[in-house]
Parts: sequence; C-alpha cells; structure tokens
Amino acid sequence: MENRQIVSIRNLRRSFKFGESEIFALNGVDLNVIKGDFIVVLGPSGAGKTTLLNMIGGIDKPTEGEVIIDGERITDYNLDRLNTYRRNDIGWVFQFFNIVASLRAWENVGLSLEFQGGIKKSEIKEQSFEILKEVGLEGKENRFPSQLSGGEQQRVAIARALIKKPKIIVADEPTGNLDFVTGQNIGELMRNLNKKEGTTFIVVSHDINITKYADRVFHLKMGKIEKIEEKILREEKEQREERKEREEGAL
Ligand SMILES: Nc1ncnc2c1ncn2[C@@H]1O[C@H](COP(=O)(O)OP(=O)(O)O)[C@@H](O)[C@H]1O
Ligand SMILES: [Mg+2]
Repeated sequence: MENRQIVSIRNLRRSFKFGESEIFALNGVDLNVIKGDFIVVLGPSGAGKTTLLNMIGGIDKPTEGEVIIDGERITDYNLDRLNTYRRNDIGWVFQFFNIVASLRAWENVGLSLEFQGGIKKSEIKEQSFEILKEVGLEGKENRFPSQLSGGEQQRVAIARALIKKPKIIVADEPTGNLDFVTGQNIGELMRNLNKKEGTTFIVVSHDINITKYADRVFHLKMGKIEKIEEKILREEKEQREERKEREEGAL
C-alpha cells in the first residue's frame, strides 16, 4: 500500500516573516497522492498553491512538516540530491509557458534531456520529435515560439516536461493564459497523457473548468485543505455498471 503513494505530505507549514508578523502561506496541509493519479488543487489567488508546488518540486523548504516523494523524504535531501531530484523526477508546466524564445520547438523539448546529460544530439532530436507528435505538434517541430499559438506553446512546455519521464508533472495554472476552448484542449491533453503514460499529474489552478479532468480535487483556502472531492470518471462509472450488470446476470 505504502509504495503506491507517490506524494505524502504531512502537517506542512510554510511561513514568511514580515518584520514582527508572520504570514502562513501553508498552514498545516496534509495531502496524499496515489501513483498515476491526476489531481487538481483548486483555490483562489493567494491560497498557497504555488508555495505547495514549490515544496513538491523541491525548490522551497517547509517551515514545518514533511514531504515524502515515492518513499523518500525530500525535505532531508542535501543540495546535490535535490538537484538530481529536480532534474529527473519533476516536470514543470507554467502559466506563461516559460519556453525559450530563441530555440525551436524541438530544441526547447530537448533541453530537458540535455540537462540530464549523456545523450547524443541526434538521439535528443529524434526523441523530441516523437514527443512533439504525441502532444499534437507534428510538422511544427522547427518553429520558434513566436510562430506558435499560446496553446501550441503550452504543448511544447508539456512535451518538455514529459520527455524526461518524470515521476510527477506539476502544473501551475496551466490554463491561466489561454482562452476557454484552448484551455479545455490542454486539460484534455494532460489527462490523456496521464492515462497513456501513467505519469502522475498535480495541477494547481483557480480555474474550476480544469477539475473535470481530475481523479480528486483538493480545495485549498488560506493555506489549508478545506475539502477533498472524489471524482469518478464517467467511463470508469460505466465500466463499473457494466461489471455489476454482468455479475447480476451471472447470479
Ligand atoms: N517568497 C514569498 N515571500 C513572502 N510571501 C510570500 C512568498 N511566496 C508566497 N507568499 C505569500 O504566501 C501566500 C500564498 O502565495 P502563493 O503560494 O503564491 O498563492 P497562490 O499560488 O495560490 O496564488 C500569499 O499571501 C503570498 O503573498
Ligand atoms: Mg500561484
């Protein structure tokens, strides 16, 4: 049971001091994520979403509490281990895409592998093209970001996260800079990749539309999880009902 858990967060607090006062961005968060899940942390601006992702991604340390990823307390890691963890195990997707303007789509995607090192340029190119096809950008591999739409740039960013086969992809407001329809397409793409590749997705957002792709929704408010909402996907439900009918028929 324990090793099915990819993220286990207990009593997590992160505060920031301003002179005499202290603000708790996270104020006692418990959060468990099962391997292969697609979860959404939903909350308004200032709720602590980005702070939470920074803890999971190993780029910030808690004031109190622990973060266990795939059985390891990353809060105990030294800088070396932390760097390896960030490079190999976590893929990031951001609101403003954060892809490099002077690099072609495939070169942006290839950066992830370049950072990991030890892979030939030709191999990087081949793999980048493959992943770009998977996110629906076949034929656009050589374009620069300025020659791509917002939605397409976000697909490049997703490909860049995906290519290193991380344990978790974390996405910070991935639809925040996209119109409704494009946002839906990005949500669907992430959900499909999650199903196909089995990569765990942790998406934080204030956009309720993204929750329809989630297995589970954590509602975050003022640094606390207020509610956990279990979602049963329609097809899963249908499968269950079918099974039930079959079982009943067999009786
Ligand atoms: N580096 C920081 N220094 C001071 N305060 C911060 C810092 N990061 C976040 N905060 C504060 O913590 C709270 C939560 O921020 P954040 O995690 O960015 O929320 P969200 O991503 O949900 O909008 C906010 O009140 C914010 O001002
Ligand atoms: Mg934020």
